[in-house]
Amino acid sequence: MLNFTVDEEKCTRCGECAKDCPTGVIEMDGLPVVRPGSEVRCIECQHCLAVCKPGALSVFGKDPANSLPLKGMFPDPATMETLVMGRRSVRRYKKEGVDPALIHHLLEVASHAPTAVNGRPVTLTVVDDPDTMDRLRAEVTAAALNLLHTDGFPEGWERIGDYVRGCEDGTDILFRNAPHLLLASAPEGALAPMADCHIVMSYFDLLASSHGLGTVWNGIARALISTILPQFKTRLGIPDDHIVACVMSFGRPAVKYHRTVQRPGGTIRRVDF
Ligand SMILES: Cc1cc2nc3c(=O)[nH]c(=O)nc-3n(C[C@H](O)[C@H](O)[C@H](O)COP(=O)(O)O)c2cc1C
Repeated sequence: MLNFTVDEEKCTRCGECAKDCPTGVIEMDGLPVVRPGSEVRCIECQHCLAVCKPGALSVFGKDPANSLPLKGMFPDPATMETLVMGRRSVRRYKKEGVDPALIHHLLEVASHAPTAVNGRPVTLTVVDDPDTMDRLRAEVTAAALNLLHTDGFPEGWERIGDYVRGCEDGTDILFRNAPHLLLASAPEGALAPMADCHIVMSYFDLLASSHGLGTVWNGIARALISTILPQFKTRLGIPDDHIVACVMSFGRPAVKYHRTVQRPGGTIRRVDF
């Protein structure tokens, strides 16, 4: 049910909604209307609502007045470039946690990231309480060290075992003493579970950095929780049929960076034919 309505007074009949609909659901009949029989093609992108300049169009019962206006609101390119190049992987954290309201706001905003076929397949599992994080840290570290000292790490995961060995002196190589953890998972059967999760996580990474928070992508924790010690996937309440695609530690940084690093550029090829 699209619940597609048009305010006839406000509509300028410009046709932008029909032109921008990616699946041709809308056509112009004086006013924009839903093409008969095409409702099933709607991918719920809401472009029709977003592209309507006078805010005359509503879909799924959404009031355009509740959308954020965009004019002049995007960050300028220099700010965006500095954020992309200036965010760093933070491995030193303050003990105090981040306000849960801010964490949940950032997760909500990050969830606006694009996904394949515009579904909402990604589940974000967050440890927003530093005491819970301390218990999880202690249990995962103990289990990982126990595995190292008994059966050893499974074939193919020896490198993770080497990292875990670094925890023997009490250093938290696994979670870098961060007070929070974020895991992105999606059903194995989704169209693009890995990509969907990584995009949401990347958005969260940049958003968190823009708020002065520190983050570090945590491949070690992902390997442990998703595969090597799967009991923690269950304990964290992540559904069995989900792939844990990426994990991130975050919190208030106890380190400040003053300039960008100077990386060699990536491989960029220009094609001409
Ligand atoms: C998928 C992925 C997994 C990562 N896993 C870890 C990790 O387990 N522990 C860690 O300290 N850093 C991890 N990193 C961070 C990288 O090591 C880091 O991006 C790199 O050192 C460059 O530093 P920068 O992010 O400050 O530019 C990971 C990064 C990515 C993209």
